[in-house]
Amino acid sequence: MKILAIESSCDETAVAIVQDGRQILSSVVYSQIEEHQKYGGVVPEIASRKHIETIVAITDTALKDANLSLDELDAIAVTTYPGLIGALLVGVNFAKGIAFSKNKPLIAVHHIKGHIAANYIAFPQLKPPFLCLVVSGGHTHIIEVLDYTTFNIIGKTRDDAVGEAFDKTARTMGFPYPGGIHVDKAAAKGDASKYKLPKPKVDTPYDFSFSGLKTAVINLVHNAKQKEQELDIDSLCASFQKTVCEIICDKLFAAAQHLDYKTVVVAGGVCANSGLREMLHHYANQRDITLFIPPIALCGDNAAMIGAQAFFEYQQNNLAELNLNAQASKSIQNV
Ligand code: KG4
Ligand code: ZN
Repeated sequence: MKILAIESSCDETAVAIVQDGRQILSSVVYSQIEEHQKYGGVVPEIASRKHIETIVAITDTALKDANLSLDELDAIAVTTYPGLIGALLVGVNFAKGIAFSKNKPLIAVHHIKGHIAANYIAFPQLKPPFLCLVVSGGHTHIIEVLDYTTFNIIGKTRDDAVGEAFDKTARTMGFPYPGGIHVDKAAAKGDASKYKLPKPKVDTPYDFSFSGLKTAVINLVHNAKQKEQELDIDSLCASFQKTVCEIICDKLFAAAQHLDYKTVVVAGGVCANSGLREMLHHYANQRDITLFIPPIALCGDNAAMIGAQAFFEYQQNNLAELNLNAQASKSIQNV
């Protein structure tokens, strides 16, 4: 089964064709980062307009790369929630247009389910059930993936998502948007033991809180500026990154142990972080847990992951009508 998938939930316009949920026939990602960089973050109105301008050309390229026509496709899938509403609406309306004109089934896909499904492409042997950590710009979740379409959230952030904490601290340290990758690169040159940063206390075992840690870094930077003191930015990045990774790994692997999962899967843009990847492997090896982390190209937003999840939704007969509407927020458990 060949599915054309469309992703436009934030600042990437992406189209892919995926076969049977596991094989990429083509995948095109157009990043708008340069458009938003001068504003220090994503400007929703600009994101929507850029999606409108690029989506047709990107779909053409995806079809050409796969050497397929629209008539040869079996279904059209689209990220429908959660995300920036104007940005989502571009993809949803475009997908509806193709489904209507070509009389193809339409499949609504939850963005976070898509991130998790990126692992089905990277690891053909991977099957639920497993425990999954989702770390992206907007989400930080520990989720039981019970089967391909059934999810149970056991932990989530109470304030900032991990990616948000990376981006906001990075901005204070003077890095361009999105700052996560710059913190990652600087951290590699720094001494992670130089700055002692707080680990927020949360009274539920698998929930997270990153705003206190983020504020501690921001305060450190502002204080140093006021006192005209030099900060060792590389070491501050290394200390921040190590603290974040320890918070995540401690909770994730405690959950795996208590709930008796031997397979742990990671998903979302922040799992591109080299410090996090290394620490996750270290924890998994010590506990005899099989760990799956997608290759960097499948960590960030792309449409191939949407096409992968769409296949499993189709198999459950989860089809959308042509009155499908986008939603800015929606829990992974309520779809
Ligand atoms: O999953 P994603 O592409 O978009 C959302 O669904 O949010 O995640 C984007 C987030 C951004 O916050 C970005 O800074 C972060 O992932 N990110 C990283 C790295 N690469 C991307 N954070 C830390 N280290 C990285 N290497
Ligand atoms: Zn994402």
